[in-house]
Amino acid sequence: MIVLVTGGAGFLGSHLCDRLIEQGADVLCVDNYYTGSRRNVQHLLSHPRFEMLRHDVTFPLYVEVQQIYNLACPASPIHYQRDPVQTTKTSVHGAINMLGLAKRTRARILQASTSEVYGDPAVHPQPETYWGHVNPVGPRSCYDEGKRCAETLFFDYYRQHRLEIKVARIFNTYGPRMRLDDGRVVSNFIVQALRGQDLTIYGDGSQTRSFCYVDDLIGALAALMQTAPEITGPINLGNPGEFSMLELAELVLELTGSKSKLVFHPLPADDPVQRCPDITLAREVLGWAPKVDLADGLRETIRYFREVLAA
Ligand SMILES: NC(=O)c1ccc[n+]([C@@H]2O[C@H](COP(=O)([O-])OP(=O)(O)OC[C@H]3O[C@@H](n4cnc5c(N)ncnc54)[C@H](O)[C@@H]3O)[C@@H](O)[C@H]2O)c1
Repeated sequence: MIVLVTGGAGFLGSHLCDRLIEQGADVLCVDNYYTGSRRNVQHLLSHPRFEMLRHDVTFPLYVEVQQIYNLACPASPIHYQRDPVQTTKTSVHGAINMLGLAKRTRARILQASTSEVYGDPAVHPQPETYWGHVNPVGPRSCYDEGKRCAETLFFDYYRQHRLEIKVARIFNTYGPRMRLDDGRVVSNFIVQALRGQDLTIYGDGSQTRSFCYVDDLIGALAALMQTAPEITGPINLGNPGEFSMLELAELVLELTGSKSKLVFHPLPADDPVQRCPDITLAREVLGWAPKVDLADGLRETIRYFREVLAA
């Protein structure tokens, strides 16, 4: 079984490559290193069942594979907003190219979609049947609308070309191999705490997020890929435990033993007030639920960032 992972040198992609290698697959990892790095897959480069290819998914790819996990796309706002046109191209042209490849090889294909397809939701928690509340012209739209269009393409290839598709709507996931400059709250707080800098809180810190540890999420992606052909998703994957930014900041300070202070800044545009998955469908269809609690996941992540900062 040859499995293609696009975005395989990124945070989630590299953990997925690890898991697939452990499971005995041959893995073809494709990445243009826009936000990923060779360091994330360094330990796999000499593995006989692992192959790395530098390639941009906005261009067609001709390889022979049996499964495709399409993860290529910068995931953090500071990175996807740096070149928003490229972000939309990566989601939309990348989806077209990978779906074309799946059509030609008759490979099963999984899309890493996102909770951002719900935008600033009017419904909490968000079930898959909620169509979302998305600004089409704001600074986050390149990502949100790009991912929405990719979902549309997946379902049109499914209906029109009878492809076997799986669409996962991933909620906030954290863990080792996130970038130091990722800009999202978990890595921001940990890096600031370890450097003894003030922890930056946007708004009053009462907005909530749910945080899924990477090992849990990868287990769900692998399980979704193995489901029967009629299971297409979209399916929410995440951890429904909700924490306010203030609670997260205090936990990070406690676990790092840092003496950093909290400072408050205005909320950025289109920042959702609350984001929480309804994972009823994942529980039913995959028999899956996250197992790692926030403090344990943060300990592993803090250990990783300590190593990176010390290097
Ligand atoms: N981490 C999360 O919390 C989260 C949440 C929702 C959805 N997702 C989705 O999961 C996927 C992986 O996210 P991540 O957190 O690992 O982000 P990441 O930025 O670490 O990984 C994305 C990878 O894609 C690569 N890439 C970007 N554009 C590319 C292109 N045009 N061609 C080839 N490779 C390209 C990057 O270099 C990087 O290695 C993304 O599609 C993201 O939208 C992640």
